[in-house]
Amino acid sequence: MDAPVFAPWSPAFTADPYPAYAELRDRGRVHWFEPTRQWLVPHYADVAALLRDRRLGRTYLHRFTHEEFGRTPPPPGHEPFHTLNDNGLLDLEAPDHTRIRRLVTKAFTPRTVQTLEPTVRRLADELVRELVKNGGGDLLAEVAEPLPVAVIAEMLGIPESDRGLLRPWSADICGMFELNPSEETAARAVRASVEFSAYLRELIAERRARPGGDLVSALISAHDQGERLSEQEMVSTCVLLLNAGHEATVNTTANGWWTLFRHPAELARLRADHGLLSTAVEELMRYDTPLQMFERWVLDDIEIGGTVVPRGSELALLFGSANRDPARFERPAELDLGRADNPHITFGAGVHYCLGAPLARVELAASFGELLRQAPGMRLAAEPEWKPGYVIRGLRELRVDL
Ligand code: HEM
Repeated sequence: MDAPVFAPWSPAFTADPYPAYAELRDRGRVHWFEPTRQWLVPHYADVAALLRDRRLGRTYLHRFTHEEFGRTPPPPGHEPFHTLNDNGLLDLEAPDHTRIRRLVTKAFTPRTVQTLEPTVRRLADELVRELVKNGGGDLLAEVAEPLPVAVIAEMLGIPESDRGLLRPWSADICGMFELNPSEETAARAVRASVEFSAYLRELIAERRARPGGDLVSALISAHDQGERLSEQEMVSTCVLLLNAGHEATVNTTANGWWTLFRHPAELARLRADHGLLSTAVEELMRYDTPLQMFERWVLDDIEIGGTVVPRGSELALLFGSANRDPARFERPAELDLGRADNPHITFGAGVHYCLGAPLARVELAASFGELLRQAPGMRLAAEPEWKPGYVIRGLRELRVDL
């Protein structure tokens, strides 16, 4: 089976992948996609089940060498990227994942998020105030991006003067999460990995000497109390927190407003009733999923809809498609900001379920809430363009008038 409708490098596809997803769902439960040598999985029930299936993993290196798994090791020149990436929470499996997730969860508690809430609201208020004062501008650069960057940097205790470094490092590293990254993308990711790691090693050394109330200090003390978080795991997990801590939130905010501008009746409904804010944020995350796809390695043979997918294969779980599956969502192609039954898969499921989901929700409620309150007449000033990425799907900018 092939799937020519799936065209992740085509701008037309990334602008609107949903008709292609509908075709994939109709055609079957699993599709071989030769250009990336992956099995595409488009149905909600399969994606939700496979995310919880322990026969799959974000990595295989806890059980097999590259050679044993039938894979070519990455070129030695890419090593700094892989060392950084492979030692972070997201790319580990049990028992390392369990240990690190427990340690990070200890440092990043619901109370941490609760304590941060007033700061998030104050920041959102200030950013939106500035946008309003200027009579509009680029919502992405002026609100969507600075809010989550400031929040996660604040949590990790990154000094304000260094925060400008985070976005470019993150963008360069995240280039590697797109399908079939080029050698140029890899070179940029390697450079960013070297610089980002060196920066964090220095920060960690500083916090060891002078602990503060930040997450890095909390991770060090969790380490020092004998539960073991190695220096590399700490560096990798901090990078993960800093990157995962803003990339998707930036895109959810800008993509969400772009969706609202294309649905004026739903936007008017929300403006008339701010009580819809929390279901609206969930619906925007379902309707246009900011992270379209996550991958899993098949560690033991599995069967999907009668097709045996052997050990050594890679699955591409199509979150964007799962979130539009009519088998799970009523009228899935319709934006309904009051949708009550909305178990979207946007934050994942199973052991890797997004650790930052409560924080992301606080941030999204704060920025959407302030924009509704302070900019009740905000409208689109220019048709936005999508950036080239498919996996991490976001706009270049979102120009608005007030
Ligand atoms: C709208 C915003 C966000 C979305 C859509 C999102 C989505 C996701 C998804 C789908 C996963 C699981 C990936 C997989 O199973 O392969 C994940 C994991 C993770 N996310 Fe988020 N995320 C968001 C915001 C955040 C924030 C604000 C943080 C802040 C700290 C964060 C930190 C993490 C971490 C640390 C993991 C790894 C968890 C693990 O492997 O155990 N995320 N996220």
